[in-house]
Amino acid sequence: MSDHASEATVPDRPVLLTGASGALGRVLARELGAAGWALRLTDIAPFPDALPAKASFEVADLVDRAAIERLADGCRAILHLGGVSVEKPFEEIIGPNIQGLYNVYEAARLAGARVVFASSNHTIGFHARSTTIDPDSPFRPDGYYGASKVWGEMMARLYWHKHGVESVIVRIGSSFPEPVDARMLATWLSYADLVRLCERAVLAPQVGCCVVWGASNNSRMTWWEGDARDLIGWTPLDSSDSFEAKVGDKTSGDPVVEAHQGGAYVKIGWTRA
Ligand SMILES: NC(=O)c1ccc[n+]([C@@H]2O[C@H](COP(=O)([O-])OP(=O)(O)OC[C@H]3O[C@@H](n4cnc5c(N)ncnc54)[C@H](O)[C@@H]3O)[C@@H](O)[C@H]2O)c1
Repeated sequence: MSDHASEATVPDRPVLLTGASGALGRVLARELGAAGWALRLTDIAPFPDALPAKASFEVADLVDRAAIERLADGCRAILHLGGVSVEKPFEEIIGPNIQGLYNVYEAARLAGARVVFASSNHTIGFHARSTTIDPDSPFRPDGYYGASKVWGEMMARLYWHKHGVESVIVRIGSSFPEPVDARMLATWLSYADLVRLCERAVLAPQVGCCVVWGASNNSRMTWWEGDARDLIGWTPLDSSDSFEAKVGDKTSGDPVVEAHQGGAYVKIGWTRA
């Protein structure tokens, strides 16, 4: 029997899910809703699906601190997935991903809530694929988006050390219905593994401020090690291996892209000789 077998499977207070109308937010809303979780869903875009039984939805902009604080009030945790999720000009990122992270952490502090932060492999995208790194390896963001996720991870550390706000930082690889190229055979995180990871990140008794690599049990994932999965009680159950024949030879053909963990993002806006 696992150490976590006697724990509740439903949080004792509501959970705020930002980015609820996005690709991963909709998956989490559906699955955690079906598991009986009381969810407060929010996004700047309308929620396109039927609301789960114990869920409510409110449109809010992450830069609206009062709205985020009100939504988080009384919550056990904030599953923070909202914001700019791809590489964009800095001016578009600064509101949701910089100011927004301050607002989310202030809201968590006031509510006594834990944050599960959807960080990204693009915080470390300039590490070589030939190396294996752990959560203490240096940040090497591969764009403004990745740098904004580094900021989020720094807010997690600040609010833990100064205020005791707990965080599970999930450095998501590629969470899509299935891998679409050779790189994703390493970085793929199945939706089911994502849901189980978020469940554990909310329900685990004590997490401090920790990092978990968001990738399934893929044979090609040799880049990342040494995270907090045992602490939160998560084991990925899926694997990209069965997609090897389908996408194993789909590469970019660009040696810089193929050399780095961040893939195509490293070449966006690239001016180096
Ligand atoms: N999907 C992946 O493979 C992957 C990989 C690494 C990290 N992530 C992170 O996971 C999270 C979810 O990813 P996704 O693929 O579902 O992205 P997504 O773009 O589908 O969803 C992001 C949501 O955030 C909302 N949003 C944007 N600006 C906002 C604002 N100012 N106020 C409120 N809401 C706002 C958008 O409307 C959208 O619904 C993101 O934070 C992303 O950076 C995802």
